[in-house]
Amino acid sequence: VTATMPTRGPALEEPNEFYAQLRRDEPVAWDPKHGWWIVSSHAEVEKALIEFGRFSSKVGAMAELGAPMLTTEDPPSHTRLRGLVSGAFTPKRIASVDARVEEVVGEIMEKMRASGPHIDVVSSLSYPLPVVVIAEMIGISPKDREAIWRWSFEFLSGLEKGAGWREAIQPTLSALDGYFSEAIENHRRTPRGDLISAMLERRDAEGNGLTDGEMFNLCLLLMVAGNETTTNLISNSISVMLTHPKEYERLRADHSLVKGWIEETLRWASPTRVVFRKALEDTELGGAKIKEGDQLLLLLASANRDEKVFEDPETFIPERDASQHVAFGRGRHFCLGAPLSRLEANIAIRRFLETFPDFKPDPDHSAQREDLLFTRGFRSLPIVI
Ligand code: HEM
Repeated sequence: VTATMPTRGPALEEPNEFYAQLRRDEPVAWDPKHGWWIVSSHAEVEKALIEFGRFSSKVGAMAELGAPMLTTEDPPSHTRLRGLVSGAFTPKRIASVDARVEEVVGEIMEKMRASGPHIDVVSSLSYPLPVVVIAEMIGISPKDREAIWRWSFEFLSGLEKGAGWREAIQPTLSALDGYFSEAIENHRRTPRGDLISAMLERRDAEGNGLTDGEMFNLCLLLMVAGNETTTNLISNSISVMLTHPKEYERLRADHSLVKGWIEETLRWASPTRVVFRKALEDTELGGAKIKEGDQLLLLLASANRDEKVFEDPETFIPERDASQHVAFGRGRHFCLGAPLSRLEANIAIRRFLETFPDFKPDPDHSAQREDLLFTRGFRSLPIVI
């Protein structure tokens, strides 16, 4: 049995029936159009994520940037890099930005109130919050933030262009490299309390630190990995309030449900829908015979609706235990930013509920979905406060 992964249009916007059929008929199906295996069941997605000895992360344009990039390295190189960066990007450092996130969200709420009653959730809340927070954590000054963010976005869209991506990203990559080389040099001379300084201080078991190329790739990765994803998590969480009025009433009455609401949004409307792997050997997965070098498209969003793991998976139930979701991946590459995005989303949603509990969809403007193969989210989400 073969299958074709929809990469645009309504089939990509509402792929859940397609996912369910795949899980039922062929949890690891060959897609001849794209030349990859589509992995849709929770058990097989989890295996491919965890078994790095069989399934490599060295795939796609990110893997060919030159210096090692955390997401596309395998052990032992991944182990070393991850150790260096996670020693700097610690849960403690993330928890310490709590007060600052409250402050940024407070300012955003004030701006929303002042510019109301017609508000776009994406441009006013979901988009600026993660950009401001991560830029401050890295140590990018407010005056450079917009430029760095624009370049990071251009870089990411360039990577997704397919053939010709290298030429497409060259100008922005040079601009980013120029900026970060200088920033790293400045931090070397004058250490500060931010992430660049913390990363520069770290040493591996042999006493070596991160190279300049590795530092640059990490700064870039932190800028691109966490922004659009967290933006989409916040937008998706608020969108579900509009489409699920009964559940929203329960949330409105009991803010202790916010945490469960966000976890259920991660499961039910996963912001990162897919990740890639490549087979390192001839092997078997879910009954399929995979050849060395074959690519696998792991459907996180489908694993998160697997009836074998989640009861009544198509229904949004904020009270359920969604902890088996794979929205942040699994195993060695488990999302480094998961605690940060959870912190931001929890504060943003709680403050939003406190400030605008009676918000309604905008009757004059409909929401614009932005669904790509990789991501699920919104370009705009107009409401009236
Ligand atoms: C809702 C928000 C987010 C989602 C859904 C998400 C999703 C993911 C997923 C699925 C992976 C695993 C990729 C793989 O196994 O190939 C991952 C890895 C990663 N994420 Fe996130 N992410 C989010 C937010 C963030 C934030 C805020 C940051 C940092 C500021 C971040 C930084 C990273 C990094 C550095 C990795 C690579 C880790 C490694 O390869 O060892 N993410 N993320």
